[in-house]
Amino acid sequence: MKIAVVGLGYVGLPLSLQFARSCVIVLGLDIDAKKVQLLNDRQSYIKHIEPSTIAEFVRSGKFSASTDFGRVKEVEAVIICVPTPLNKNREPDISFVIETGRTIAPYLSKGALVVLESTTYPGTTDEDLRAVLEEGSGMKAGVDFHLAFSPEREDPANEQSNVKLIPKVVGGYTPACLDRATALYGKAIDTLVPVSSCRAAEATKLLENIFRSVNIALVNELKLVYNAMGIDIWEVIEAAKTKPFGFMPFYPGPGLGGHCIPIDPFYLTWKAREFDQHTRFIELAGEINTRMPEHVVHRVADALNSQRKALNGSRILLIGLAYKPEVDDERESPSYVLMDLLSERGAEVDYYDPYVPVVKSTSEHSHFAGKKSVTWNQANVASFDLVLIATNHKCVNYQELADWAQRVVDTRNAMAAVQVAPGKVWKA
Ligand SMILES: NC(=O)c1ccc[n+]([C@@H]2O[C@H](COP(=O)([O-])OP(=O)(O)OC[C@H]3O[C@@H](n4cnc5c(N)ncnc54)[C@H](O)[C@@H]3O)[C@@H](O)[C@H]2O)c1
Repeated sequence: MKIAVVGLGYVGLPLSLQFARSCVIVLGLDIDAKKVQLLNDRQSYIKHIEPSTIAEFVRSGKFSASTDFGRVKEVEAVIICVPTPLNKNREPDISFVIETGRTIAPYLSKGALVVLESTTYPGTTDEDLRAVLEEGSGMKAGVDFHLAFSPEREDPANEQSNVKLIPKVVGGYTPACLDRATALYGKAIDTLVPVSSCRAAEATKLLENIFRSVNIALVNELKLVYNAMGIDIWEVIEAAKTKPFGFMPFYPGPGLGGHCIPIDPFYLTWKAREFDQHTRFIELAGEINTRMPEHVVHRVADALNSQRKALNGSRILLIGLAYKPEVDDERESPSYVLMDLLSERGAEVDYYDPYVPVVKSTSEHSHFAGKKSVTWNQANVASFDLVLIATNHKCVNYQELADWAQRVVDTRNAMAAVQVAPGKVWKA
């Protein structure tokens, strides 16, 4: 069997490799010629994907990459994993999905299967994508070709997370579409969870991400409340999570980051308006989570103030530009918001992140493009008035940080296990 995966990013590339591992021949398609070249040269641009894995499948002919979308005519199924961001008005931008649909439609074979994996609002697959596929192919979904939605559950940097073992939700446009989609995914994934429609599958993914956003907002709010009462939220969460039922730990932080949790809930908010429905939990969670960087900046100012220093003119080292530990993905990272807020107040901000050695020119925060991670040594760390931990990468030596830094503001409880002079670490 030969399939195409469109969009070779954090979702599409691991999925392609899992199908290749399962003896399906995979043609990876992307508009980014540089990525395509790197893959065909057997190199990786994602930290947790080994070049040797790519090399193995390129060598065996199971995987190849291309920018030639005309080659869709060679395959039985196309899986779409392109970005679904928000536009500048924070409304869903499904233009990448629509563009992909338009591009592949003329090359779809009769009987082919198209599956969308990009996170999106209910109705994208059976309304928006279906319309462009039908128009461009002259065929009817559910009659001449099959259509389905199956959300990705990628957990970057989680070593226990394995595409094959994570149950996969699948919804079809018709029962026959669902059968085709489960037959395809059954080749590569151990457990499938069929649902009644594409919309139910789209809604499932949104529920999963909204659940995270709301619960993170809850602990972020409790952090502020408990802090005012002199209670440490981290101690409370550790104690609460010993409850063997009815509780799941979520952790506070400097704000939400990444390509999913800060964005996806608002796809539902937008679509709900069409049905005169309001998503108050989503809005409230968004409001609390986006206020967290301001809170962190206040803690930084307080910590400096306790040493008779002002934010204005202070040198601050931010640790962790990536939005979560052990990843090189800095999309939507609150670290950028923190750097902006601190710079606006006159601080001189540098960062340390071994996984993001330099801010790329393609970054959403292009005014930081070219900025480089500082070198980790005592002289450098000690030269800053304050170190702000935004992301707790495991590779950082927190004992050295405790020994070298003048002051630390810790948004991740990263300093909990190290020996440190009293009063040096401020939790935020
Ligand atoms: N990253 C995650 O952990 C994660 C988890 C679950 C779901 N998702 C969802 O999966 C989707 C993809 O996310 P991602 O993190 O892989 O994004 P990504 O930015 O890492 O990858 C997207 C890829 O699509 C390519 N692309 C863009 N437009 C294209 C087009 N018109 N045709 C072909 N290729 C195109 C880009 O060049 C890029 O390589 C999004 O909807 C996201 O919300 C992501």
